[in-house]
Amino acid sequence: MSTQTTPDGTRPGGSAGLDLAAAELSDALTRRPRTIPPRWLYDDRGSELFSRITRVPEYYQTEAERSILAAHASSIAEITEAVTVVELGSGTSDKTRTLLDAFVAHGLIRRFVPLDVSEQTLLEAADMLAERHPEIEVAPVVGDFTRHLGRLNAAGDRIAGPRLIAFLGGTIGNFYVEERRAFLGALADVLSPGDWMLIGMDQVKDIGRLIDAYDDSQGITEAFIRNALVNINATYGGDLDVGGFGYVPFWDGRQERVDMRLRAEEPMTARIDDLDLDLEFFEGEEIRVEISSKFRPHELLDELVDSGFDRVDAHVFTDDADDFALVLVRRS
Ligand code: AVJ
Repeated sequence: MSTQTTPDGTRPGGSAGLDLAAAELSDALTRRPRTIPPRWLYDDRGSELFSRITRVPEYYQTEAERSILAAHASSIAEITEAVTVVELGSGTSDKTRTLLDAFVAHGLIRRFVPLDVSEQTLLEAADMLAERHPEIEVAPVVGDFTRHLGRLNAAGDRIAGPRLIAFLGGTIGNFYVEERRAFLGALADVLSPGDWMLIGMDQVKDIGRLIDAYDDSQGITEAFIRNALVNINATYGGDLDVGGFGYVPFWDGRQERVDMRLRAEEPMTARIDDLDLDLEFFEGEEIRVEISSKFRPHELLDELVDSGFDRVDAHVFTDDADDFALVLVRRS
């Protein structure tokens, strides 16, 4: 079957969505500390840079998760018996392929729904998957998983039978604690009892390895973080001086997360026309662009149980080095 764009007909640039994103960004940039919502990292160039990050030697996560999927994806298909598989923030990566291959081999899956903010990346990946698996329907949804989970239920008829929502790559680590609670609650709301959730998380480990993973020697992570400013400038007519900021990644041991900031090297001002925003940075002032929280699987499991998922049916899969983990839980 062929691919279709946004089955509910909604476009990412729809006025209500854009206004919300703009308001959220203005608010984030003017609050103290200044922040940038992570979705600004993933325009087409950002998605390309992220896929290069997954291939730098210091960034162990992608390979660790791939090895877990390679070893356990068929068990996951068997346990869940899912007929619909949804992947949030699917991007381009080949973890999706590993997961889908196992579900198709198991024989119950009928529809795959990748959801991503980056339209071009999404549609290219969807075409590739539709070609690889002509026996299933590939129905991509353009959207931001923090705001558009509703599009999953709006998108066409539901196929009877369990659904699995996969949220891989450790992206759960991008949320602040409160946001994570809200997100897990929203997922529980979208799912029906008996549906499943598969979440990839990076585990707490040696600090040196963690820092190196976010400060790679080729500077690709730095380019990825800076690209958020490039994207904002391009989207809203801004003149943020991208080169005037230094990249500052560090480990926050109290919150157990890597914190990635851009620091103004000198006093500077910026104007973002379409947000009608004038910003003034003092020398050394920082924008917190991204956090990447690291987890202990049983703690995330506790949060999932608090949000409406079942503890009894839960499974935790890890790689040989115990660097990464996949937690599989059922909506109760
Ligand atoms: C895609 C959110 C999992 O936090 O490791 C990689 C993003 N940022 N290098 C991560 C990222 C900088 C990545 N996630």
